[in-house]
Amino acid sequence: LIRTAERLREAVRAARGQGKSIGLVPTMGALHAGHLSLVDASHRQCDFTVVTIFVNLPQFAPGEDFSTYPRTLEADLDALRGRGADVVFVPDEQEIYRPGHATFVQMHGVAEPLEGRCRPGHFRGVATIVLKLLNLATPDVAFFGQKDYQQSLVVRRLVADLDLPIEIHLCPTVREPDGLALSSRNAQLDAQQRQQALVLSRSLRRAVELAESGQHSTKAIRAEMLALLAEVPEVRLDYLAMVDAETLDEAAQVDGPTLVAITAFVGPVRLIDNCLINNIM
Ligand code: PAF
Repeated sequence: LIRTAERLREAVRAARGQGKSIGLVPTMGALHAGHLSLVDASHRQCDFTVVTIFVNLPQFAPGEDFSTYPRTLEADLDALRGRGADVVFVPDEQEIYRPGHATFVQMHGVAEPLEGRCRPGHFRGVATIVLKLLNLATPDVAFFGQKDYQQSLVVRRLVADLDLPIEIHLCPTVREPDGLALSSRNAQLDAQQRQQALVLSRSLRRAVELAESGQHSTKAIRAEMLALLAEVPEVRLDYLAMVDAETLDEAAQVDGPTLVAITAFVGPVRLIDNCLINNIM
């Protein structure tokens, strides 16, 4: 467990000195099997794995759930034990944003639609902390989950635009047996809301089925998804988008890799989920 940037740099320098490759798994804690699958992927691919746990205030807008975001450090450390994390970096706020901090990363393009539109400032916060963590840990590979698909595109763009010699590895979304995508925010759902939330993954599965059975019109797929979602009025849709999986431009037809992204409030909790429909022709 490392608390300071200086000690993290030392640990990474020592590992590099032994010829080890470095993997980075950035998280905000409240670790679940999705995060652990990223740690496993890093452990498989890299010699030395750094997991970071930091709830990053700048990526939360005022009024969002920064103060109620689950903080479960002891359980997180237990979950990581024996899992192949060599270092867990848990800085406090001042260690990351030192007095006078004034530099933020503002990205256009893939950071603007979807989450960028609904959560202004979110990706500015994400890109800034990810760049800082990449600079501190200097990994060869950094691991991200597909559940935050747009975030992974933002990080790829960041790495490409700022010439960082780092590979970005995207790992599949991990789901509960009934389809619910794992999220640290699921802990804030009561039993009834958790049940209602299943309509998100159900509607995504329907989109895949339709596309696989030859329906290429995103308008038609969207209409069927909306009909399913309407069956659970407690789930308040924020957006449902079908977009080009590279550019996030709206897609009229599923004629190439297409992202179906859905975001909704279930009770007080904002959940996101997505699926990729690939080259179905
Ligand atoms: O996906 C997350 O948990 C966060 O957005 C990240 C990448 C750790 C940055 O705070």
